[in-house]
Amino acid sequence: MFTSRTTIPDSLVEAVSTRERVKGVPHDFYRYPARFPPAFAREVIQAFTSPGDLVFDPFCGGGTTLVEAISLGRRAAGMDISSLATFLARAKTTPISVHDKRAIGTWLDDLETTELQRSFNSHEIVDAETQYYLRNLPDEARTFFFWVLEHLSLLPKLRQQRFVRLILLGVGQWGLDCKTRVPTASEFKTEFCRRLREAVSEFFSFISDVATTNDLPRHRLSSLRRIINRSSEQCNDDGRIPESWLPIKLVLTSPPYPGVHVVYHRWQIMGRKETPVPFWLANQLDGAGESHYLLGPRDEDELTTYYSRLLSVFSSIKSLLDKDSLVVQLVAFSDPEWQLPAYLETMKKAGFAEVKADCRTKNKIEGRIWREVPGRKWYANKQGDISPSKEVMLLHKLAE
Ligand SMILES: C[S@@+](CC[C@H](N)C(=O)[O-])C[C@H]1O[C@@H](n2cnc3c(N)ncnc32)[C@H](O)[C@@H]1O
Repeated sequence: MFTSRTTIPDSLVEAVSTRERVKGVPHDFYRYPARFPPAFAREVIQAFTSPGDLVFDPFCGGGTTLVEAISLGRRAAGMDISSLATFLARAKTTPISVHDKRAIGTWLDDLETTELQRSFNSHEIVDAETQYYLRNLPDEARTFFFWVLEHLSLLPKLRQQRFVRLILLGVGQWGLDCKTRVPTASEFKTEFCRRLREAVSEFFSFISDVATTNDLPRHRLSSLRRIINRSSEQCNDDGRIPESWLPIKLVLTSPPYPGVHVVYHRWQIMGRKETPVPFWLANQLDGAGESHYLLGPRDEDELTTYYSRLLSVFSSIKSLLDKDSLVVQLVAFSDPEWQLPAYLETMKKAGFAEVKADCRTKNKIEGRIWREVPGRKWYANKQGDISPSKEVMLLHKLAE
């Protein structure tokens, strides 16, 4: 049971403060915006759970928490309102077999020798729905994506196709998102073939290690995690997290940040033109506006919608926890001066009590550890004393 303070191991203090860029398989297959450093997720899971415990991320994004939890022998559940996020989290935690690895390798050999065609019929004639997803997409990227997707159906298994789509998303992001020069179709092809060849063998090793840690055959690994595409509001009604897995031992998450503009669901091409093409590549439906993914409009006075939806999420999580559960969050603010107190008040209203960090670090202010986020480039509305390039680690337990 937690008291009002808890000891933070040195390795976790170091991981919170790390300025290292995210790397490692499968995290680096796709750079999900505002994702956790995997080392941070790993240290938190190790510090506060044991093998077999359930770790839950109600805003799971690209699945950092889930990947780290299952690779440490824990059970994992994740929810996200974005079907792109749950696609990524699922693809990164779905095992592939020796047969899948071989099938993808052979498919890639064939693809490499196939000429990149520039004028498919399907390239020109696309239905209205597809047009929506291809908005603002440069021609070279369009040619390349059609070429890969036309060949995708030659892979017999859905999980094989899903893995290829995951790597395709990473390549699309590499070539398009926040870039000023778009690669040619053949540059896309070269990058895609190189990445897929490397990724499939690295991912197979990763899956084999996870299987060994969990003492399970590879094909049973999906049974260690649940990934659910829905809003986490009223999440205790869902029923898809098995009763026998409860209570949740650790909630480890990063919600959308108050007042901070992060583009989770689009790529920004040539400056600020946005495209929903990642959903099309993932074969998922999109159709919601930015505020849907940000817990509310970011320019609303006092962020009323944001805090009331946050309250609804944490109030509903409460019934899935017990007195030994801990909630660990990493949060940034566009204006921490008033948003942090409002955030803490919301947690209190939801039935949580703050746990302060016991450790030695110069990054601690009032019992909370702050971290500087490297390479952060988003737009805050205002800037307070603590800039939005800083995140804070918040710890909570159920209030008595
Ligand atoms: C900061 S990101 C999480 C990143 C994640 N920690 C990672 O490492 O990839 C926040 C996520 O919250 C999701 N989200 C926003 N509103 C939500 C809601 N009501 N329910 C569930 N997820 C939501 C967004 O789609 C986004 O993926």
